[in-house]
Amino acid sequence: MIILDGKATSNQLKEEIAIEVQELCKSGVRAPHLAAILVGSNGASLTYVNAKVKACAKAGFESTLVSLEETISEESLLEEINKLNNNAEIDGFIVQLPLPKHIDEQKVLLAIDPDKDVDGFHPMNVGKMTLNLPTFLPATPFGILELLERYKVETSGKHVVVIGRSHIVGSPMSILMSQKRPAGNATVTITHSRTKNLKEITLQADIVIAALGIPEFLTADMVKDNVTVIDVGITRIADDTKKNGYRLAGDVHFESVAKKASHITPVPGGVGPMTIAMLLKNTLIAAKKRA
Ligand code: GUN
Repeated sequence: MIILDGKATSNQLKEEIAIEVQELCKSGVRAPHLAAILVGSNGASLTYVNAKVKACAKAGFESTLVSLEETISEESLLEEINKLNNNAEIDGFIVQLPLPKHIDEQKVLLAIDPDKDVDGFHPMNVGKMTLNLPTFLPATPFGILELLERYKVETSGKHVVVIGRSHIVGSPMSILMSQKRPAGNATVTITHSRTKNLKEITLQADIVIAALGIPEFLTADMVKDNVTVIDVGITRIADDTKKNGYRLAGDVHFESVAKKASHITPVPGGVGPMTIAMLLKNTLIAAKKRA
C-alpha cells in the first residue's frame, strides 16, 4: 500500500514554485501577490486562510488578508471585491467559502474578475474548465490530478467513482477526470446523497474520491482490493485528549480501507496541502500573464 503523501508533494511543488518566483524577480518582475477575503471567524475557514497566507511567504509571494465582519452587507463585500479587481498590485484573490447565509454566493463569485479568479469559481472559468480550455482549475481537484500524476496512478480507462457533487470538488473533479488530459481519460460515475445502492457502485471503482463531508463514511466493505482512495473530507471532531480539543477526520475510515487499498491519501497531510500548493500555482500563472 502506498500513501499518497500530499504534504511532501506539496512541499516539492512549493519549492518548484519558489524557484520560478526567484527567476521572475531576477528578470525585474515583482513577486506574485495573492489576496484572500475572509468573512467572519469560522474556525476552519480561519485555519485554511492562515495556511494559505503562510504558504505564500514560503514560496516568496506577497499576500494580503482582508478580514471582514460576519455582519458585513452583501453590497459592502461586493465593493471590497471591486477594490481587489482594480488593484494592479494584486495578481489573484479568493473569497473563502462558505459565506454567511445573508450573502448570495453566486453574486459574489460573479463579481470576481475572471482573470484574478485563482480559485476558478467564476462561471466563466467553470465554463472554460468544462470545455477543457486553458483556465484556472479549482485548487482541490487540480491538486488531486497533480497527486495522481506525480505518483503515476493510472487513470486512463479506469472507473472513477466520485462521492459528492459540490461545486468546489465533486462536480469539477468528475468533469476533469473524464477529460482527455494527464490523470484523465477515466470513466467517471458521480454519486451523491440521493444515489441508490451506493455500495454496489463503489465496489466497482478502481479509484474512489470521497468528497461528501461525512467523517469516516467510506468503509472497507465498500471498496474492492487494490483500489486507489482519495479522501477530500476534513471534519473537526471533539476530542478532549487533544491539545486544541479536536481531531481531524476524513470521509474515509482510513484504518480499515488502507488494508485493501493500493494507494490512499491520509487526513491530514493528503489533499489539503495539495489544495494550497495549487492555489499558489494558479497565482503564479496569473502573475506570469501580467508580466
Ligand atoms: N472552502 C473550502 N474549500 C475552498 C476553496 O478551495 N476555496 C475557497 N475560496 N473556499 C473554500
